[in-house]
Amino acid sequence: QAGAAELTLHADQVGPRYDRQIFGQFAEHLGHGIYGGIWVGKGSPIPNIDGYRKDVIEALREIKVPVVRWPGGCFADEYHWRDGIGPAKARKVSINTHWGGVTEPNSFGTHEYMGFMALLGAEPYVAGNVGDASPAEMAEWVEYMTSPSGSTLARERAANGHPAAWKLPYFGIGNELWGCGGNMRPDYAADLTRRYATFVKAPADQKIMKIASGPNIDDYHWTEVMMREAGTQIDGLSLHYYTFPGKWEDKGSATQFDEHHWASTLANTWKMDELLTRHGEIMDKYDPAKRVWLVVDEWGTWYDVEPGTHPGFLYQQNTLRDALVAAINLNIFAKHADRVKMTSIAQMVNVLQAMLLTDGPKMVRTPTYWVFDLYKPWQDATVIPIDLHSPWYDKDEFAIPAVSASAVKDVAGQVHVALANANPNRPMTVSVKIAGVGATTANGQIITAPDMHALNSFDRPDTVRPQPFDGAQLAGDTLTVTLPAKSVVVLGLK
Ligand code: AHR
Repeated sequence: QAGAAELTLHADQVGPRYDRQIFGQFAEHLGHGIYGGIWVGKGSPIPNIDGYRKDVIEALREIKVPVVRWPGGCFADEYHWRDGIGPAKARKVSINTHWGGVTEPNSFGTHEYMGFMALLGAEPYVAGNVGDASPAEMAEWVEYMTSPSGSTLARERAANGHPAAWKLPYFGIGNELWGCGGNMRPDYAADLTRRYATFVKAPADQKIMKIASGPNIDDYHWTEVMMREAGTQIDGLSLHYYTFPGKWEDKGSATQFDEHHWASTLANTWKMDELLTRHGEIMDKYDPAKRVWLVVDEWGTWYDVEPGTHPGFLYQQNTLRDALVAAINLNIFAKHADRVKMTSIAQMVNVLQAMLLTDGPKMVRTPTYWVFDLYKPWQDATVIPIDLHSPWYDKDEFAIPAVSASAVKDVAGQVHVALANANPNRPMTVSVKIAGVGATTANGQIITAPDMHALNSFDRPDTVRPQPFDGAQLAGDTLTVTLPAKSVVVLGLK
């Protein structure tokens, strides 16, 4: 028997903008995140556009990736940009000490990253090195990327093939300064952030938003100190929160799980709501006008690596459970869209909760990819405030609302509603009150599968993909939607 939930859309109220940057991605030099996943080189037998995988570029274009954070992660705080410019054959080969101790050919550097952004039509978000580089090195990298012409660095950029300056709208002042970025205390990190940010200078025709390295999970003290000491000098504060089914030391499998771990994963992902509320409250104290963005630039599931793969490469499969994680977080971001203006799911290809997985010439779109695809109308839409009353889904010690939801009015004025049913055993009937929307039809798509472990493998790449949804009935101002167990539904109202 179906449970019953009630959702009210306050179509007469105007919520914040759901910035397209919330659908941002993260691409680190880690495992096959870049090499093999995005970049195969011009001579590769894998079809490519000037070295970039053609299949990957096409798939990412389809979901309209708005911004990509690069080169790390932990990799960023030991990345020296000069290693990645100039003739490919002459580039330094270094060791990726964070991720597997493998050699880093530096064949994907600043020019290749900016070329990737141009192919995707995405904006760059470059993370600078505070950990083991100087403010001068950071300032010179920014000048190399953005200086119009005339300076020695601009001439060097031109000699390396790109006379025009690139736009650099977002720049990270280090990454995880509390950990792999230098194991700093918050006061010291705040001082360094002030110092490094001072030398990140935009040319006259550009604005570079400076994103400070923010808290790990619920380190509210970090947020307090950063905002108090550096809040006026930054434009964004990052937050990192990963979802594990278990503990850091024993995270759990991406594919072999029972209902206990289904429930723990979804309950843990729901903590994002509390984190955004509490970090947001601290930010409000120092920045009531909400000038400083909360940038959730690492989020998503983190499981044990797939058996037989390199432990340092963080390669994991992606199931229907990940689709629920993605939808729940995208709905939570709608609630906090007045402060959360950009996020980067970790990571885009072949690493953690990826959009795409590759194996040699093969590529699959994951269930997470399809959620990002269904949510495209949310990009730059206006959030419609909602009230949701849902029964609980509980299993063992975990309890969460069975239904999660968000609603937006897209840039063309059409209203869209997203609903996710976390209960793997029971359908949910959601009575959606849409007074004021003026709709007469509701059409949409669903992501679900009979099995909670359903995934897209290289042999069966289309097991989980959106299907037309016929479970919505509209009568007057009430839309009745029957959500199958473990499903994500996105509806467009007209
Ligand atoms: O995404 C993997 C790693 O997780 C990143 O490099 C780091 O910032 C975080 O700890």
